[in-house]
Amino acid sequence: KNDVLTDQFSRRHTYLRISLTERCNLRCVYCMPPEGVQLTPGGSLLSTSELLRLASLFVEAGVNKIRLTGGEPTVRPDLIELCRHLSMLSGLKTLAMTSNGIKLERQLPELKAAGLNALNISLDTLKAERFEVLTRRKGHDRVIKSIATAVNLGYNPVKVNVVVMRGVNDDEISDFVMLTKDRPINVRFIEYMPFDGNIWRDTKMVTYKEMLERVEQSISRTYSQRKASEECSSSGNTHLPKILMNRLTDPKGEVAKNFKIEGFQGTVSFVTSMTSLFCGDCNRLRLLADGSLKVCLFGANEVSLRDAMRGGASDSDIRLIIGAAVQKKKASHAGMFEIAATANRPMITIGG
Ligand code: GTP
Ligand code: 5AD
Ligand code: SF4
Repeated sequence: KNDVLTDQFSRRHTYLRISLTERCNLRCVYCMPPEGVQLTPGGSLLSTSELLRLASLFVEAGVNKIRLTGGEPTVRPDLIELCRHLSMLSGLKTLAMTSNGIKLERQLPELKAAGLNALNISLDTLKAERFEVLTRRKGHDRVIKSIATAVNLGYNPVKVNVVVMRGVNDDEISDFVMLTKDRPINVRFIEYMPFDGNIWRDTKMVTYKEMLERVEQSISRTYSQRKASEECSSSGNTHLPKILMNRLTDPKGEVAKNFKIEGFQGTVSFVTSMTSLFCGDCNRLRLLADGSLKVCLFGANEVSLRDAMRGGASDSDIRLIIGAAVQKKKASHAGMFEIAATANRPMITIGG
């Protein structure tokens, strides 16, 4: 039964990312061009029932985690209803969502009740003015509130996605690290990736190595300040322990390198798509809002499950189509310059 989702490199694809919409209420500079993108006409998007049919087929075939993405998933009117149905699929362990947090706060209690059990929120700056430059929209305070509400509702951890761009927000790395001090937040620093229409430059990308160094520096600064103030009252040990940040063992299929800072409640991670590929362990497939199945984030290979369904395909026909697409998945994606030079979709229509 699992064979449909196992590729020629023995990778089992148990994680399906479903893009619910191509629309978004922000215009992040690294995601789409200022003018937005050409939207797929409504009739060519998956309906609620088509989406649920495909999701249930995938879960029957072995998918145990679904992440809802976009565009921005919270702009889809039937989001709660979708969650209610998806979370009831037998075999599904995790129903997750990645949101920009603008419209999220109000919907959170209902989403939780509908079975959403993991939440990632994108936030690239802690400065309201900078937020408006980066997202070309207002709403910073609403994202901050959504994160706080998610923590209060018991999402643990709440993952906060930070795309780090040189000269844009790389001066905020230590402020983001501090977010994890007293909260069950996992801050994830993400290497800037090239997509169609996002003006990517390698010089704007801050690498994993560099981000890690900056985080380490910021922790030792914090630590020595704390030590210094403690030593005013008691003459304690002045020795700074070498390891303040420990690498955690990563679960299978994890895109992030995870670290725990001693004494901090949350964790800090790095998503290293550009400088340290994790394709060998990849467990992801993507179902786009228009019903295309995409087997790799950076691959142009797509097959339309929508067309198959609308052409009258049976469940077993669709399983065959999915299986064939999975078999064609490459061992790994190309290097960053090749990716930047190859046509893909804009990020907004892939959903990360
Ligand atoms: P978890 O399920 O919590 O591990 O989250 P996630 O990392 O799968 O999803 P999220 O939507 O939060 O994405 C965070 C970052 O990881 C984004 O920049 C994504 O584009 C990137 N990402 C997600 N999946 C892949 C993948 O298959 N390959 C690569 N290279 N990057 C990915
Ligand atoms: N590079 C890296 N991450 C990106 N995301 C969007 N565009 C890019 C890019 N060019 C992130 C968003 C969101 C996740 C789904 O993907 O910040 O958190
Ligand atoms: Fe919208 Fe997310 Fe793209 Fe920003 S990154 S424009 S929030 S889809």
